[in-house]
Amino acid sequence: MAPTIRTERLLLRPFEPADEETLFQLWNDADVRRFLWDDQPVSRETVREQIAQSQKDFREERFGLFLISRAEEPGTVIGAAGLFRFADADWVDLVYALRPAAWGQGLATEAARAVLRFAFEVVGLDEVLAGTDLGNVASQRVIERLGMTDEHERVVGPNKVLARYRRLRRQDFVAGPGRFTLVEPPDS
Ligand SMILES: CC(C)(COP(=O)(O)OP(=O)(O)OC[C@H]1O[C@@H](n2cnc3c(N)ncnc32)[C@H](O)[C@@H]1OP(=O)(O)O)[C@@H](O)C(=O)NCCC(=O)NCCS
Repeated sequence: MAPTIRTERLLLRPFEPADEETLFQLWNDADVRRFLWDDQPVSRETVREQIAQSQKDFREERFGLFLISRAEEPGTVIGAAGLFRFADADWVDLVYALRPAAWGQGLATEAARAVLRFAFEVVGLDEVLAGTDLGNVASQRVIERLGMTDEHERVVGPNKVLARYRRLRRQDFVAGPGRFTLVEPPDS
């Protein structure tokens, strides 16, 4: 139902309730929450809701959110990535974040590309959108590297933030040669 994804350097594992503390720390890192959470503290309640929503999404829509670890260090979380919908949105959003110590190595692009491949080849979505706050230059570079186009602006999220968006359609996605292996959970 919710597989783990193995890429060249990474493991992407679906969020679980036991990840609450890990995600609480990740989302409240000042450099991670600056744009991703409009620089607001993230409560444990929000983390619990997010995990529950991701599990519901995996059940009902076959996509959700993943923790990211290096493949050779599966017990240490370096970030998160995945797919979600803002409340009432009629599109699916791509999201990615890494602890600052993991920046500058192409790992966010590798994780995001794997999530897109999952979205198009496994879930069968027709298109995925990705938005970044106007000042989030590093994230805009990730979106460009993924081959996303059709730049436009939209107002999103509970805080009604103006974000720069791009989209990628399934027929325009180029997976590339990198490793992409799915490990299905035993009960699926
Ligand atoms: C957005 C974010 C994930 C980008 O991280 P990042 O490290 O810049 O992105 P990547 O992991 O793809 O790494 C790309 C950089 O690594 C470099 N790099 C080094 N080795 C590389 C390799 N083997 N392959 C590819 N790129 C490599 C690239 O040149 C690039 O640097 P540049 O942008 O200066 O040219 C990070 O800033 C972050 O977590 N921010 C907080 C959360 C957030 O705002 N998320 C976005 C909202 S969706």
